[in-house]
Amino acid sequence: MKVVGKPLPRRDAWDKVTGRTRFIADIPRPGAWFGGAVRSPVARGRLRGLVRDGGFDWSQVVVITAGDLSGPNTVAMIREDLPLLPVDEVAFVGQAVALVAAPDPATLAGALAALRPDIEELPAVLSIEHALRGDRVIWGEDNLIADYTIAPDDMDAFTAAMARGRIIEGVYHTGYQEHIYLEPQGVTATPRPDGGVEILGSLQCPFYVLNALTRALGLERDRLVVRQAPTGGAFGGKEDYPSVIALQAAVLAMASGREVAMIYGRHEDIIASTKRHPSRTIQRTAVAPGGRLLAADIDVVLDAGAFTTLSPVVLSRAILHAAGSYDIPLVRIRGRAVATNTPPNGAFRGFGVPQSIFAAERHMDRIARELGEDPLALRRRSILKPGDALPHGQVLPEGGTAASLVLERAIELSGYENRREEIAAANASATGPERRGIGVSLVHHGAGFTGDGEDKIDAVVHVRGEADGTATVLCSCVEMGQGAETVLPAIAAEALGLPLEAVHYHQPDTGAVPDSGPTVASRTTMVVGKVLVQACGDLAEQALTHGTDAHGTDARAAWSARAAAGEPLVGEGRYEPDSSIRWDQQHHHGDAYQGYAWMATVVETAVDTDTWEIRPERVTVVAEIGKAINPVLCVGQIEGGMLQSLAWAYLEEVRLDGGRYLNDRLATYIIPTCLDAPAYTVKLAEEPSPRGAYGSKGLGELPMNGGAPALAAAVEHALGTAPDFIPMTPDRLLAHLQELQP
Ligand code: MOS
Repeated sequence: MKVVGKPLPRRDAWDKVTGRTRFIADIPRPGAWFGGAVRSPVARGRLRGLVRDGGFDWSQVVVITAGDLSGPNTVAMIREDLPLLPVDEVAFVGQAVALVAAPDPATLAGALAALRPDIEELPAVLSIEHALRGDRVIWGEDNLIADYTIAPDDMDAFTAAMARGRIIEGVYHTGYQEHIYLEPQGVTATPRPDGGVEILGSLQCPFYVLNALTRALGLERDRLVVRQAPTGGAFGGKEDYPSVIALQAAVLAMASGREVAMIYGRHEDIIASTKRHPSRTIQRTAVAPGGRLLAADIDVVLDAGAFTTLSPVVLSRAILHAAGSYDIPLVRIRGRAVATNTPPNGAFRGFGVPQSIFAAERHMDRIARELGEDPLALRRRSILKPGDALPHGQVLPEGGTAASLVLERAIELSGYENRREEIAAANASATGPERRGIGVSLVHHGAGFTGDGEDKIDAVVHVRGEADGTATVLCSCVEMGQGAETVLPAIAAEALGLPLEAVHYHQPDTGAVPDSGPTVASRTTMVVGKVLVQACGDLAEQALTHGTDAHGTDARAAWSARAAAGEPLVGEGRYEPDSSIRWDQQHHHGDAYQGYAWMATVVETAVDTDTWEIRPERVTVVAEIGKAINPVLCVGQIEGGMLQSLAWAYLEEVRLDGGRYLNDRLATYIIPTCLDAPAYTVKLAEEPSPRGAYGSKGLGELPMNGGAPALAAAVEHALGTAPDFIPMTPDRLLAHLQELQP
């Protein structure tokens, strides 16, 4: 292959590193108004009204409350429980209760300061445990936003195995995580002469925003356009929230008749936007006398916050990975997403899997400890092999089940076994406060939408032949820093036999590109890339059959001639459902994912036993991701995702008090810098997948799964005690150790 597999530089890199890229806040918009929100100061309460300060000149601004909305008051996602503006009850701190547009930022600030929501505070539900107790119902009949079970086919055998084996039980907690994309949320909304509105914004899913607008504004799609602005990072945080902020801007634009910019600063972004779901997982495993894993009963609970957003699908993905990468014959998994009076949690790289697989990996370490066995030895003898079935009934294929491959290579590459002994010996004779530890994790991640989700998305991609002989990729998958703008044209160039320079990428715009689905779920390269290959084939075929005879078998010359004549040829690809895939959504049973990527991580860390600071120093990763379309970008994704995963485990902590985030700015919410990055050794293993473009598999989320459990295992090795919670901040680590004191 000429383009695929080559380490080509990112196409957007130069403009981004030189500051030439214009993000939404950088784009000049003369005459535009500024939008803002009045937010609830309480976690739960009855909204009695909005008090306006009589001293402010209200004629110069537009103020909107629920009563002013003409369409259905809803932000359409999976359910319609989230109102654009609350009618009579607020459900979380920071919920927008009124929207304001003003001609300039100072007037906006004045208006926001002169508005006070009149709220009668009600008792709130602020924890998973409280939500589960059910003594105070804040959502539905039982606070359960979703409740799913994966049950073994033979329940009697499961019950017998749980009764027969020795039960090893552990409870694992993971915390919030804030996305801290480089660029906060932002959109502009411009009213159109035909009564519609046009959105330009920092977002992952143009058609999700279009759907939310269509529903809430009650407008036909042809009067609405959603265009993606260059997007400074997302990590899932711009999957759901842009629907909220775009609707806020749209109703202000339509009420004021002006272009309205709704651009959050970092502080407002942290207060208002979604976070990773905190979780509590209980793992109970039945072990036979010889140490064989017989059965597991797993209970995963996610804190969804006050509304549904994407929590049911996050929960699905969490439970489908909750047994980890091991062969346990009989597994039952229950998952619940519970409502609390906190801002809705949403999509974040990994989409529930980092939480459930942290528990699975820590639990393997606990089983090893209780059996007096080495954690690596337990993993080796329990590892998933081709032909094994996952708890949801999916049988792993011969090719593409690389659990052992990645584990063994990572062990060898890191010198894990020697280092573990050396480090233990050094700790035993250490005189200073520093201890070290080394730990391993083994994880996987299913790419693309769950089950028949890709059939439902029905992705379409277009490739247009241009007059100069080049081609343009038209699809709705966005560049957000991950490389789509480089990788998709590379796939098209390979398919069309063109040099990369001869393929363009059209900035996603619902008025110009087809709906290829959202830019999520590690699906862009693998799933959308494959549809793109088809679109390229269609373009070439059209050029040869409908092209002018004069051009013979030169497809490129034929499409140039057609484009020059004003009738460009557009190749179309459409997702082809695989009829061999079986999926039962109600029971979460069958072929959940079309491909699994595998990753083993070895982390070596230092722990200071005076300050209880953790410092990951060396990380070895081996990842099997199918064919690497661009190996440099793959390694970059792994290094970045790994740092995000490690930081979630030891550095990043969202603290709340009464439902209000305490560290709601970058001065207090600490994320890693490049100085905190460990030394990486990253190796790719490639087993081409038949379901992905040129054999690729999804990669974006995989590295987020592996860092946290490997670091926790390394901390256990260093301290001889096992943190079953993250983040392992110094004060939480110290409290844990003090609890262990007699
Ligand atoms: Mo993602 S977390 O599927 O945007």
